[in-house]
Amino acid sequence: MAKITHLKYPWNGGWVGMLLIQGKKNILLDTAVEEAVPTFLKDALANAGLTFQDLDYVINTHEHEDHSGGNAAIKKIVPNCPTGIHVEGSHRYPFDFTLTDNMCVDGGDYTLRLLHTPGHSPDASSFLIEEEGVVFTGDSFQGSGAEFSSLILIQNPALYYASIEKMQKLANDGVYHKMYLGHEFVDQNKKLCSELNGKDEIIPFLEYCKQTAMNYVQFCREHRDMTIDECTDAIDDLYGYTKTPLMPFLRTITVSYLKQRIKDGTL
Ligand SMILES: [Fe+2]
Repeated sequence: MAKITHLKYPWNGGWVGMLLIQGKKNILLDTAVEEAVPTFLKDALANAGLTFQDLDYVINTHEHEDHSGGNAAIKKIVPNCPTGIHVEGSHRYPFDFTLTDNMCVDGGDYTLRLLHTPGHSPDASSFLIEEEGVVFTGDSFQGSGAEFSSLILIQNPALYYASIEKMQKLANDGVYHKMYLGHEFVDQNKKLCSELNGKDEIIPFLEYCKQTAMNYVQFCREHRDMTIDECTDAIDDLYGYTKTPLMPFLRTITVSYLKQRIKDGTL
């Protein structure tokens, strides 16, 4: 039976989540940022009775810097520890292997399956520990945003909806019953949320993720004349989390993508 620990590296007023899976093989999902490696991660591994030398794989949910940024520092310590990611995320950093949807990594006494859940980014992936019914979703599902950005960050709403529906079906089918998130995202009760337990929590949360994205899209469609900044401010007023996000430059990203997609006819 695998032991699963949700690690939370303090970052920009919140945290970046990672998942440490200990079994016959030890796998670390995501690495936060470079500075986390010699401090937080080293201590977290020690608390679990491990060192970097005990890691069999490092695998990332996607290539964004706050999720893969610690990889190089880990490779400096353990050059032979293989790093992997979904094939669409293999361009920003060097990785040793790539995965595609439904590919599995053998943990010895557990199976880790990649579930491709794009929308936030093309490579965004969730990982299922099959025997435990646990998933780690990184940034794949974001409620109505986070403290650092106020708004959700999605590149492709159609893929985001499809990923949500896929994970709702798997929860309904009993494939998993626990979901760990990659940041503290805002849930349907306007509370910061780090994990969801059981389909009664998971399915409404995912529905709220979808509804939030649909609200953004509808607003952008109905206000094509607004600039990116005007549209972002209005969406933040209606659906955002905080008026003082800790990384304010992230606020405009989703509206930029949506407006571009509407303009070029792909949304
Ligand atoms: Fe991300």
